Amino acid sequence: MDTNYLIDTHSHINMIENISIEEVIRNANENNVRKIIVPAASISDIDDVFELSIKYENIYCYLGIHPEEVQDWSDEILDKIRDYSKSNKVVGIGEIGLDYYWDKSNIEAQKEIFIKQIKLANELNLPMNIHDREAHKDTFDILKEYNKSSKVIMHCFSGSIEFAKECIKEGWYIALGGVVTFKNAKKMKEVAIEIPLDKLLLETDAPYLTPVPYRGKENQPAYVRYTAEEIANLRGISADEVAQNTTKNAIEVLNL
Ligand code: NI
Repeated sequence: MDTNYLIDTHSHINMIENISIEEVIRNANENNVRKIIVPAASISDIDDVFELSIKYENIYCYLGIHPEEVQDWSDEILDKIRDYSKSNKVVGIGEIGLDYYWDKSNIEAQKEIFIKQIKLANELNLPMNIHDREAHKDTFDILKEYNKSSKVIMHCFSGSIEFAKECIKEGWYIALGGVVTFKNAKKMKEVAIEIPLDKLLLETDAPYLTPVPYRGKENQPAYVRYTAEEIANLRGISADEVAQNTTKNAIEVLNL
């Protein structure tokens, strides 16, 4: 298996405004980022990211509804995802989960729709890309109770090292992004050092959370290399070793 390249396992390239998709892909290739997984967030995203994955060879997608978008939920979404997931470019259900940062008034609806999408992932035998923002305990408890068989990726992990270890005990993967390069991100640097390499994935969450040295500018998949380099520095290993391990993990968990 050739793993001498990087995979951006969570990148909203459909939301990048300053450069075209062709340029996004070209920049990624020039930085050895050879596969990009684009998550759906809103309802309209489901069509958009699926079409992108069909159009471009090295683009794949996760389909699902983000917790901030649950007001638009209808059960027909399940049928649409079932239908699209016949394509092997659909590599997971996501991004799904709980977000208590923005809106706490709809927690019950968030939980209900999260559970429906966990059951869908189990039915389709697809991994899940999990959004957990300030909802660590509920996210963990719901996954423990309802997930029977799907692999779990904790996207843009933001918990403590203790929480990371609990997730790893369940066999889940931890995906780290640009935050790990921020000077004051002590907690994330600790996670980057301590979690086992065989449970680590890389992502950008572009266009958000741009790593140093481009912090403040619009993010893109090419910049996943800065996250890989920072994790390598923190662990005292080579960036190649980080790339090879995280790419191997991504290929395995996402069946790429
Ligand atoms: Ni995202």
